[in-house]
Amino acid sequence: MVGEGKGALAGEPHAAPAIRTTVVDHAPFLATVVADAAAAWIRQHPGGLVCLAAGDTPLPVYERLVALQAAGRVDLRSVFYVGLDEWVGLGYEDRGSCLQVMTDAFYGPAGIPAERRRVFDGLADPHAECAAVDRWIADHGRIGFTLLGIGLNGHIGFNEPGAPDQDGCVVVDLDDTTKAVSVKYFGTARPVRQGVSVSARALAKADTVLLMASGAKKAPIVARLRAGADPAEVPAARLLGHPGLHLFLDREADAG
Ligand code: PGA
Repeated sequence: MVGEGKGALAGEPHAAPAIRTTVVDHAPFLATVVADAAAAWIRQHPGGLVCLAAGDTPLPVYERLVALQAAGRVDLRSVFYVGLDEWVGLGYEDRGSCLQVMTDAFYGPAGIPAERRRVFDGLADPHAECAAVDRWIADHGRIGFTLLGIGLNGHIGFNEPGAPDQDGCVVVDLDDTTKAVSVKYFGTARPVRQGVSVSARALAKADTVLLMASGAKKAPIVARLRAGADPAEVPAARLLGHPGLHLFLDREADAG
């Protein structure tokens, strides 16, 4: 079952902007609904620039998008891509790097040519990478569509709590929550200290921003976001008020 609504919480101490919200019963169906929304955008915006997150949450979306392409329902090669973020110091050979995850889950299976995508190289100088990715975004006007997850600490990409709010791509010191969570991607503890990311401000310029969350562990941070959290504490709140923001949740993430 899919439920749709404005998502504002009644009785909050201050007025939180209503967020367009879709809630589905189960995480697998969430992926279907989000993939269909992404495919619709791509069909309508040939040549547009798409920014995709590399966390665990959207992985089933990418599988579904590849299946939709195989069924002739979308051409994923009709748009351009920009990577959302990367761990500084990690490359394709490192399990859990954003490059490895997205190449194996999406760019490879979808057959996206190298000249249609620009993702951060975690092994290169991070500031030079930021400048290069900024140029790529500027060359395509702006990000048209982005699919994001939300971290347990409220981050989007590597826009961590307390990180400066600035234009363009950013080099960020990772906070302790992100370092602790990183073990699930790497399969082991690695001494990651920094990340590179498209800034929250650049993401907020996208026409369409899909933010997805699943599972009970995300319920508290989703509730804080919907209550109108301070963006300095919950960076995803920098998206609040964006007319193109659409929150996609499963029942568990909605339950906070
Ligand atoms: P997850 O990551 O999808 O693996 O939970 C989300 C994020 O940290 O942005």
